Amino acid sequence: MSIKTRKIGIIGAGNVGSHLALQFAVQGLADEVVFYDTNMDKAIGESLDLLDAVSYQPHHFEAYAGTMDDMKDADILINASGKPRKQGQNRLDMMDGAIATSKEFLPLIQKSGFDGIIISISNPCDIIAEYLQYKLDWPKKKIIGSGTALDSARLQMQLSTQLKVNRRSLTAYLLGEHGDSSMIPWSHVKVAGKPIDELLKEKPELYHMDSKEEILKKVHEEGNIENAKKGCTEFGVSSATAELVRAIYHDEHKILPCSVYLDGEYGIHDSFASVPVKVGKDGVEDIIELHLTDEENEELQRSIKILKEHFERALT
Ligand code: 2OP
Repeated sequence: MSIKTRKIGIIGAGNVGSHLALQFAVQGLADEVVFYDTNMDKAIGESLDLLDAVSYQPHHFEAYAGTMDDMKDADILINASGKPRKQGQNRLDMMDGAIATSKEFLPLIQKSGFDGIIISISNPCDIIAEYLQYKLDWPKKKIIGSGTALDSARLQMQLSTQLKVNRRSLTAYLLGEHGDSSMIPWSHVKVAGKPIDELLKEKPELYHMDSKEEILKKVHEEGNIENAKKGCTEFGVSSATAELVRAIYHDEHKILPCSVYLDGEYGIHDSFASVPVKVGKDGVEDIIELHLTDEENEELQRSIKILKEHFERALT
């Protein structure tokens, strides 16, 4: 029995796709990465640049530009297609372009014989993940959107900085859309397992933070600020996606906020949105249903309504 190398396909050799591949090299998460991009020169350039890094990485690593047929034996296929957001655009504004791009490569995925796990990053993340699942009729547990894994990292950064608590000592997610309608279930934000409201009340001299509304606003705004100042974002989303890949390859049964098909969970049917998901070697293992307050539930349902309205439009 020969050892199977860990092979990941990346659709899109742009800012996100190239940073993803570097994460896989640096973290030793994959043995082989194949880029698919309609701009073959870009895919070749990124591959060659990655190969320059191999001599100084802890693990050997192959990278090359290929066709979608090269994805046949990949374990994971990551959709990082599309251009960065333009100034003033929100993620939902990118839908028409992202759908048009998806239409180009969807038949190629079908023809390739790939049957692994799909991770979709391209914005609007939840809509595109759902579109791929719908059009490919992909097993719902084998397609995951990076979703609010990135937004949750931004929330953890805000809380960590303001409370002076290490991010890894926090439990803090956003739910719903990867975008401006996501919400924070504050009743589940905890410091070392202690509800944040209790901590703030018991030790106001030690722990204080902006208002909850202000923190949500900052989390929503950060992606826009990064985009405005550097023209794209890549480090955070590629790191969040690498966490998903690690949970899959190492069968970690890790709970991560990411965008998955909801089939009644949180009272949501037939929609992709971010919730806490247990991720392992087969993709989605379980969806963790948090008990939300009435207000939190209303905010989540409002986000879902926006996603559903846009998805309906995506199908027209
Ligand atoms: C972000 O929030 C690009 O949607 C991505 O940075």
